[in-house]
Amino acid sequence: MSDDILDLDRRHVWHPFTQEQTAPPPLVAVGGRGASVLTADGKSYVDLVSSWWVNMHGHAHPGIARAVAEQAAKLEQVIFADFTHEPAARFAAKLAGQLPGDLDRVFYSDDGSTAVEVALKMALQYFANIGQDGRTRLLAFEGAYHGDTVGAMSVGRTSGYFRAWEGTLFPVEVLPYPVTWIGDEEVEAKEAAALAELERQLTADVAAVIVEPLVQGASGMRMCRPEFIKAMAERVQASGALLIFDEVMTGFGRLGEVFACRKIGVTPDMVCLSKGITGGFLPMAATVVREHIREAFLGEGLDRAFLHGHSYTANPLGCAAGLASLEILLSEDCTRRRGEIEALHRRRLSAVKGMRHRVMGTIAAVDLGSDGIGSAVGPKLKAFFRQHGMLMRPMGPVAYFLPPYCITDDELHAAWDLLEEFAAGLEIGSEGAGEFVP
Ligand SMILES: Cc1ncc(COP(=O)(O)O)c(C=O)c1O
Repeated sequence: MSDDILDLDRRHVWHPFTQEQTAPPPLVAVGGRGASVLTADGKSYVDLVSSWWVNMHGHAHPGIARAVAEQAAKLEQVIFADFTHEPAARFAAKLAGQLPGDLDRVFYSDDGSTAVEVALKMALQYFANIGQDGRTRLLAFEGAYHGDTVGAMSVGRTSGYFRAWEGTLFPVEVLPYPVTWIGDEEVEAKEAAALAELERQLTADVAAVIVEPLVQGASGMRMCRPEFIKAMAERVQASGALLIFDEVMTGFGRLGEVFACRKIGVTPDMVCLSKGITGGFLPMAATVVREHIREAFLGEGLDRAFLHGHSYTANPLGCAAGLASLEILLSEDCTRRRGEIEALHRRRLSAVKGMRHRVMGTIAAVDLGSDGIGSAVGPKLKAFFRQHGMLMRPMGPVAYFLPPYCITDDELHAAWDLLEEFAAGLEIGSEGAGEFVP
């Protein structure tokens, strides 16, 4: 069966973020159990990256599978203009209940990129609707990644992924990001410089500032301190611009707390959610905004309305999965487990002494070098983990663990053991760029 599938795949399928000429054939997934993916050749792989950060409670989780199956037997999809339905209304209320302040209004879409597009378009139209047409500038942070559609690429232009489309992107001002790590002695100076530049840029024509709160995911799990995000948020909101938190990766417990905004103690004006939103079962997203933003779109004519939507907006199956997944996330067991994962990461940090490393909530990251996306270390690390039945997907030379919360201590220790073994075989050059010596 596997040869058949691989042959069909080779002839007809185009994979994302892959150089198809040189990549080894893909693994053929046939199932999932707990933190592991099962493949057609009878092997299994511990999913240390939660399948691109979407899985929360394990693969094929029976509770979520049941919720989706029950909903599918009742109503699979309905146009979301003119209609609403129970899963969409209940899930929106539940999300609003978990977000701070009056972040109460949920606009559904399909994935992280669309959640961001919605936020950017809403921010721009919001100011037009309230008669502040001059507010059109967008600010984003250096190294940020917000998705692959054109608006999301524009605010993530410095992530290093979009050179092919550089000329197509719209102008966005880029702010310095005070990236930090354990043992960083210059963090306060970096934060002060970043805040000074932010103040300089926050002129009366700024519509919105978008940030991945606390962790920039795709540029290498680059972390900053809550103190910085808080100070930044105060300045942005005092200036009258809107503050957008892109919690596509940080949301749903990745940083321990259910949402990063709660961990920091800030109520942004808009929050973008996706990835873990359905526990990894269905593509879905939400842009949650404060009530006064939605009010600015009310009026007699369509001209003030938000003329944006997607065919599968508020898909009932996605909402049902979201409700089931959120219930598990909020359980005592899952909350405790997230704390245990963080504690285990911290206990194992001695494995990578001498290398830049950081932990936040369930995420741990280590720089095995300082070169970029094309680093030679990444593919070697990935192959090494794969040989040992573990899915690791380094970003350039950055190794990271972002596991489903159901991962066992034994599985996580085994992952750290492998990283320790690999790191011990690296010779660190003067630039910190590692060369793996097997
Ligand atoms: C912070 C952030 N925003 C947006 C996106 C885009 O999400 P999607 O791939 O679902 O479009 C990602 C994806 O990695 C992300 O990490």
